[in-house]
Amino acid sequence: MSDAKAFINPKSGSIRITGVVDIVDADGNVIETIENPKFCGCGQSKEKPLCDGSHKGLRKEE
Ligand code: FES
Repeated sequence: MSDAKAFINPKSGSIRITGVVDIVDADGNVIETIENPKFCGCGQSKEKPLCDGSHKGLRKEE
């Protein structure tokens, strides 16, 4: 069982994962290993697939 946990922010759409994550290509080859990544779910990041904070201009977060 993995210790990784995913937190989805319903306001921004960002997806934060705690733990070490392997990013793989379509063939399953590891491209990069990232610790505690935060992925973009709003589609506005200029650093996709990672969140760069651009969602803050879309709507207010609580
Ligand atoms: S969720 Fe898209 S930039 Fe943060």
